[in-house]
Amino acid sequence: MSALLRIESLSKHFGLRGGGRLHAVDGVNFELAHGEALGLVGESGCGKSTLAQLIARLIDPGAGRILFEGRDLAAIPAERFAQVPDRARIQMVFQDADESLNPRHTAFDAIADPLERLKGLAGTELRLRVAHAAELVNLPGELLGRFPHQLSGGQKARVGIARAIAVEPALVILDEPTSALDVSIQAMILKLLDRLRRELGLSYLFVSHDLAVVRMLCERVMVMYLGRCMEAGPTAAVFDRPRHPYTAALIDAIPGTGRRGARPRLEGEPVSPVDPDPRRCRFHGRCPRGEQRCREIMPELDGGRSGAVACHFPLAPA
Ligand SMILES: Nc1ncnc2c1ncn2[C@@H]1O[C@H](COP(=O)(O)OP(=O)(O)OP(=O)(O)O)[C@@H](O)[C@H]1O
Ligand SMILES: [Mg+2]
Repeated sequence: MSALLRIESLSKHFGLRGGGRLHAVDGVNFELAHGEALGLVGESGCGKSTLAQLIARLIDPGAGRILFEGRDLAAIPAERFAQVPDRARIQMVFQDADESLNPRHTAFDAIADPLERLKGLAGTELRLRVAHAAELVNLPGELLGRFPHQLSGGQKARVGIARAIAVEPALVILDEPTSALDVSIQAMILKLLDRLRRELGLSYLFVSHDLAVVRMLCERVMVMYLGRCMEAGPTAAVFDRPRHPYTAALIDAIPGTGRRGARPRLEGEPVSPVDPDPRRCRFHGRCPRGEQRCREIMPELDGGRSGAVACHFPLAPA
């Protein structure tokens, strides 16, 4: 499978006003194949949204490459990227439809906006494309004239998705797209997303803290911890036979997995992401296996598409 997206040594550090640098994303590498869905999981604050925004080119990286369809997009400043044709090829769906939809724009306007800006469409052609996008997400045409406050949460989510797919992207980045919705609505939207990916041949980068959702929707998963990728591979393999002690703890923390107690629980808080020791494994201190070596040499992600882990003492493979 050829890669649609290849991320190389991508980093984003935020300079803090009180001094110090917060390492939100730190030397991340991965690939996303055409038509593939990659789940991005990890605790709050591990850098998932920052990584998503870097790849969507909403913010500029400090270092690294974002090779998309063979071109390095990291070199294009975020504000200029908004105008290049590639903008249409990478679209983002946000967690909070209320925040991403303009309250003074109707559903029609919201879906039409990127088609006008990025594809230069107008008139009948524009109306047809908006209607088609609405149909793809099962949004009844009569709702297109409504404003966000006149729509339900599920309907707003559909508008956000229609807006993203209307411009025919290759990659859709979804940052917790359903976590603001009721469980029953969530299930419908997830099914919709799954169907759209297959029908339209889309690739997804799917950010979620819900491992069950990732398992349902994504063939591959990447586990982040404090800005670093700790483990990546096929979803079933990573979840059934985690190799990184952090992944194992994350899975054991899900209620109902029935494995509580089988392995040490995740205890304590992550260390600070501000000026972390570059030699030390980020998980050291919280890791049940932490040894001298883990304090002295930061483990790099090692392995291929069938499974990669950044740990000196990984759990045994199956
Ligand atoms: N503009 C910013 N300035 C300074 N620090 C930031 C900025 N944006 C994010 N951060 C910090 O970067 C780290 C990663 O944040 P990010 O939002 O990417 O995490 P996340 O994994 O998406 O978390 P969540 O699951 O809660 O959404 C956090 O420590 C956060 O406080
Ligand atoms: Mg986030």
